[in-house]
Amino acid sequence: MKTEKEIIKMMSGPELIRLAQVLRVPLTRRHISRTLIEQDLVDAIEAKNSDKSSVGQCELKNPAIEITRMRKEFGRKVAVKDLDLIVRPGEIVGLVGPNGAGKTTTLRVLTGIIKPTYGDVFVNGHNMASDPVSAKMKIGYIPERPTCYPSLKVIEYLTFIARIYDVPRVDALLRIREYVDRFQLDEFLTSYIGTLSKGNLQRTLLAGIFVREPPFILALDEPIYGLDPRGAWSLKAHLKDLKKDGSAILVSTHILEVAEGLCDRFFIMNHGDIVGQGSLTDLKDKCPGTNSLEEVFLTLTGGIPKE
Ligand SMILES: Nc1ncnc2c1ncn2[C@@H]1O[C@H](COP(=O)(O)OP(=O)(O)O)[C@@H](O)[C@H]1O
Ligand SMILES: [Mg+2]
Repeated sequence: MKTEKEIIKMMSGPELIRLAQVLRVPLTRRHISRTLIEQDLVDAIEAKNSDKSSVGQCELKNPAIEITRMRKEFGRKVAVKDLDLIVRPGEIVGLVGPNGAGKTTTLRVLTGIIKPTYGDVFVNGHNMASDPVSAKMKIGYIPERPTCYPSLKVIEYLTFIARIYDVPRVDALLRIREYVDRFQLDEFLTSYIGTLSKGNLQRTLLAGIFVREPPFILALDEPIYGLDPRGAWSLKAHLKDLKKDGSAILVSTHILEVAEGLCDRFFIMNHGDIVGQGSLTDLKDKCPGTNSLEEVFLTLTGGIPKE
């Protein structure tokens, strides 16, 4: 995570002026030097933070995500069979399995996009069925096929998200700069979302989530898949940082190397069933002779093919 001083250093002239307006730092002739304006802004933010130090960061409920006996049928097709899953604050949990295993369906039920056939979903203690607004307010979702308002510009979308999630304006300005930089969105800030590539759209949605107040509860559907190696590395590093700060993260992926390096625990799904779960050590112990998540996975889903 970057400090406020580091973020301010990355800001453009107009962004600094905007921040000064919001912080009510009057700009004077001496501010022609960039260093002086930066220092005054840092001082103003520190003064503001010391005022609100008693508020403290909110902590997530434990478990942050709870899915109990959840089943989802599409007609006669059972996409997810009686799933029990929890994610605690400070954990990254991987939902891994082949195409059609039920990963996307699970995340769509978790985020309230579709209703389960039966079973319950709780986000930070809020029941998605009876209190959907509170539950949705606290979850950040990146869908497998990202979509977003095509006629908004990237900067408009990020500002809009900050407003609807009630992010204080100073925090919003700093976070937007931090995440635009982290996800290399600077050159697309004034591009229409409808013109973005899949990777840049995904990064915009990610930046939109992180503009909100941490810690986060995240449901990420194949988040690494559309990113280039630098973007993927940056996202993985960021997810590990968020975990240290108490976020709860559920990631679906069929790329096992990604899951192995990132997640603390795994749920291995196949045809809607959980065929194995636990840490990599637990799973390797249950499948003697295996050395990696890939070998565990193959063993649990039909056996390791003979050459
Ligand atoms: N809206 C839907 N209507 C009918 N069947 C669906 C629908 N969504 C998913 N399915 C089926 O449910 C199963 C699980 O799909 P999905 O959750 O997308 O798997 P995964 O994300 O693991 O690839 C698949 O057999 C898929 O065809
Ligand atoms: Mg999927």
